[in-house]
Amino acid sequence: MKLAIYGTGGSGRELYEIITVTREWDGRWEEIVFIDDTKPEGEFLSCRMVPFASFCELFPADDIEVAIAIGEPAGRKALYERVTGAGYHLATIIHPTCALSPSAVFGQGVIVKDSVSISAGAVIKDNAYINGISMIGHDVEIGEHCQISSHAVIAGNTKVGPGVYVGISACVRDHIEIGENAIIAMGAVVMKSVRPGRTAMGNPAREIAENKDHQVFK
Ligand SMILES: CC(C)(COP(=O)(O)OP(=O)(O)OC[C@H]1O[C@@H](n2cnc3c(N)ncnc32)[C@H](O)[C@@H]1OP(=O)(O)O)[C@@H](O)C(=O)NCCC(=O)NCCS
Repeated sequence: MKLAIYGTGGSGRELYEIITVTREWDGRWEEIVFIDDTKPEGEFLSCRMVPFASFCELFPADDIEVAIAIGEPAGRKALYERVTGAGYHLATIIHPTCALSPSAVFGQGVIVKDSVSISAGAVIKDNAYINGISMIGHDVEIGEHCQISSHAVIAGNTKVGPGVYVGISACVRDHIEIGENAIIAMGAVVMKSVRPGRTAMGNPAREIAENKDHQVFK
């Protein structure tokens, strides 16, 4: 089986490095390629790099799985729909240093980087991206296409809706709900539920804006 990393930005480079230095993954993929629609066909980190249209012609879906390596939740969703719509399967990649509850459930295309703790009964839905050294409490639900940044802590029974971005070192209390496409700013201390499509920041976090264009990184 081969692996295609979709994205050659910071997330793509990070994922490539993690994969190639993790000895437990030796031999899981016989070849790594990159997909990037913004660059001409060529090489990236000594791997083949192609736009998605050429990728579909070159690599049959039964011989390669795809990892989406971009941080913006709306972009993750768009690429998920493009890749699965073309018949490809998304790789679920969980770093061996993670502390995983045996009762946690992971969807297709979930990426969990190093040293993440995922507790009992947590459900991580399709295409969510959990960055290194974060903590997902028991019975937490992380929705499709979310990005949870490093050092974020999501406490027990909280539900994080689809397309949510949780910034670095945010702290989200137990038994609340973060609505679809909300943004939780870095360092926020979230004490109560956040409505869909709102940006919440500060300690205690307040909804200060609407995430109208579904864009975190402007
Ligand atoms: C929420 C966020 C997206 C807002 O970004 P933005 O819309 O560009 O906002 P700005 O930087 O223009 O800041 C607007 C105001 O909010 C304040 N602010 C921004 N982020 C803040 C935060 N995390 N906590 C408290 N206040 C914050 C700014 O100081 C500014 O205040 P001012 O108007 O009084 O000067 C951004 O702060 C954030 O948290 N990004 C995520 C960072 C991250 O996790 N990176 C990890 C990459 S893997």
